[in-house]
Amino acid sequence: MDNILEQAYSAESFRRQGHELIDMLADYLADATADREDVRAIPWLDPDKQLAYWQEDFQKPLAKPLDLFQDVIAKSIQVHRKRYMGHQTTPTLPVTILSSAVTAALNQGMGVYEMGMVGNTLEKVMTEYLAMKLGFGREASGFITSGGSLGNLTALLAARAAGSNVWNSGYEDGKRLAVLVSEEAHYCIDRAARIMGLGSEGIIKVPVNMKFQMRTDLLEQCYQQAVSEGKHVICVVGCAGTTSTGSYDDLEAIASFSQQHNIWFHIDGAHGAPAAFSPKYKHLVKGVEKADSVVVDYHKMMMTPSLSTALIFKHGGDAYKTFSQRAQYLWTEQESEEWYNGGKRSFECTKAMSALNVYTIFRTYGEDVFKENIEQLYGITTTFAGLLSSNPNFELAYEPQCNIVCFRYKAEANQDKLNQNIRKLLLEEGRFYIVQTVLSGQTYLRVSLMNPLTTESELHTLLSKIEEKASFLIAV
Ligand SMILES: Cc1ncc(COP(=O)(O)O)c(C=O)c1O
Repeated sequence: MDNILEQAYSAESFRRQGHELIDMLADYLADATADREDVRAIPWLDPDKQLAYWQEDFQKPLAKPLDLFQDVIAKSIQVHRKRYMGHQTTPTLPVTILSSAVTAALNQGMGVYEMGMVGNTLEKVMTEYLAMKLGFGREASGFITSGGSLGNLTALLAARAAGSNVWNSGYEDGKRLAVLVSEEAHYCIDRAARIMGLGSEGIIKVPVNMKFQMRTDLLEQCYQQAVSEGKHVICVVGCAGTTSTGSYDDLEAIASFSQQHNIWFHIDGAHGAPAAFSPKYKHLVKGVEKADSVVVDYHKMMMTPSLSTALIFKHGGDAYKTFSQRAQYLWTEQESEEWYNGGKRSFECTKAMSALNVYTIFRTYGEDVFKENIEQLYGITTTFAGLLSSNPNFELAYEPQCNIVCFRYKAEANQDKLNQNIRKLLLEEGRFYIVQTVLSGQTYLRVSLMNPLTTESELHTLLSKIEEKASFLIAV
């Protein structure tokens, strides 16, 4: 076949490559629990070398896609490895690798119903189900957006729309809006507030307690201080849980405060809201149903590929006020609440049909798979915390509430540097992947147990590896 486009669209070569790709990915998945030394969680290469490699690759003669994919896999971090314990990225359920292929093949837009007839409908079904699981009433509804950062920005915009007319009239002179949030909240909240023009003065950071939870006893004081400075507080944000430590704020207390002052209550539940699927852990999100809006990342604790974030509103109608604009070529009426025209409520116009991934999980395995995942991961983290507490070489930063735990190797001197270097050696070796964070000004090692296939045995090995690296570093 001579024509390059005919060749590129050939269904037959797709069929052949597709079969080969599935075999390749199945081999990758089969290694998930392998104990072979060559199976690494991260094949670390420093950024300059990585860049040089791909710049050279780009100049080479045309390649077979399968060779390219093999190379990409070999050079990437592998979240399915049972020794991957770093950031909160989920080892996607294999069935969602298949649903992602369907999503890519169909390439639906979602802004307008015709372009996403199934996708827009699945978003409604999925977000209303999640809302019900979180304890909201029938009025609750939502949609799916591209990530927790965008979800939180959208929620803050909704809060602003409820409390001011900035969307239409811009900021009037002297009017200063503000949001109240825990100092441990994800940086995207701060960024969202700045994008909205609130400036650094508009982000009021409420201090945290020893467990890194918002000090709700200080909320009133922070609020009164803001009011006395002439600020109009439009929103209070609760975390369920925080990124660094996985801490859950006291949502009931924040709800009472927000009701008392008639302020929008938003919850960043990107990581921890799916605890609602577990009878054992749902107490952590007690009060979530009192929020005006909640963000939940399906791609963190719900085994779904990135990006897929539910933004849920207690009063579904609130979502339509966020972006009131005319787009005649898409919708004839902006004011009407048409759930099926996705672009009316979301920031995006074109957007992937990511709802299919989470829907496929529900339809294939039922909701118990989410309960099991939460219970396995939160449970094994408690076990890990026990191992750390009983080992005199380690110091636990706090008792973990979910699957995120921070700790450090004890040392007489230079403890921060030692822990940073331990993590660097682990990274370069690549067998385990863990990260680090700073808590109260000190460096801690940070583990997020995201893979339900990780067992206690890997956790013992991790601690031995850390001890080995520490001895080496102390000796040199
Ligand atoms: C609590 C929390 N909120 C928001 C985000 C940002 O979400 P995303 O990475 O989906 O934009 C994160 C990411 O780690 C997070 O942990």
